[in-house]
Amino acid sequence: MSRPKIVVTRRIPEPAVELLREAGDVWVSPDDRPLETQELHDAVSGADIAVTLLHDRVDDAFLDAAGDQLRAVCNVAVGFDNIDVPAATKRGVLIANTPAVLTEATADLAMTLILAVTRRIGEGERLIRNREKWSWHMFMLLGMGLQEKTLGVVGMGAIGQALARRAKAFGMEIVYSDARPASDEVERELGARRVELDELLEIADVVSIHAPLMDSTRHLIDAQALARMKDTAYLVNSARGPIIDEAALVEALRSGQIAGAGLDVYENEPEVDPGLIELDNVVLLPHLGSATIETRTAMGVLAARNALAVLSGEDPPTPVNPEVLEGSRT
Ligand code: DGY
Repeated sequence: MSRPKIVVTRRIPEPAVELLREAGDVWVSPDDRPLETQELHDAVSGADIAVTLLHDRVDDAFLDAAGDQLRAVCNVAVGFDNIDVPAATKRGVLIANTPAVLTEATADLAMTLILAVTRRIGEGERLIRNREKWSWHMFMLLGMGLQEKTLGVVGMGAIGQALARRAKAFGMEIVYSDARPASDEVERELGARRVELDELLEIADVVSIHAPLMDSTRHLIDAQALARMKDTAYLVNSARGPIIDEAALVEALRSGQIAGAGLDVYENEPEVDPGLIELDNVVLLPHLGSATIETRTAMGVLAARNALAVLSGEDPPTPVNPEVLEGSRT
């Protein structure tokens, strides 16, 4: 019997590839870059399992190119906005993601952005690296302290909660907006209060985005939302770029409508609006949320475990559309 064909669209940590090799013939793209659409479609043709990255578009054309034997697409990311899940479900293709393993690393990064932008770390670093003449003085690069300030968490899932825990340790009050309330236990632990998004925007000193990208969250933070924020407030995004209207953000930062922003993700990633690059009151990172050796390894291994489970007829640990499994059992 021929071994299953497993296609990995870009290099992932070796322990994950080793696991995959136990279960099938593994092809890993030799080019450490996102594949062009045609290359991606050629690569997945005939695959039983595709292991994808967040920049791979998995849609009807991808599924057609892969063929009817495709059993699962295991995305090495918690976010799966790159995947047309209903299209996959219709064809009985399982989609899996990598939740939980990146919660702490991403919350660390969000907290880093909050500290970096409120304490003007980028500006200070640039001053030194540009070899500017300086001497300590009372008013140099003054930022905002976090103690007794309010953090507004937009999307109180695992990462939002993990950030709130960190922010609480820095002395911040927590409010959050989410369609679903957090458990009483979590609200009590964090002293967190659920409010409508409009109220959150009006009262928060730091607004941090932790929602998934969906139709309902695309441009959730638009010009109107930004206008609700205090002119002393900061906006942080380590979730997905298109949740913020980037052009409106540039305008709000330029005009002083808000004090600053810390961004790890962009509307047209990997492009970054040149307007953002020109501004000093913005900290810009290249999508580093989960970028620790431990976390990236855990993400790869979890994606591989999902693949292995599907191939051996077991329940994958983190399916996105488990109804596909129900369908295959009946
Ligand atoms: C994810 O997993 O969705 C992240 O954005 C990648 O770190």
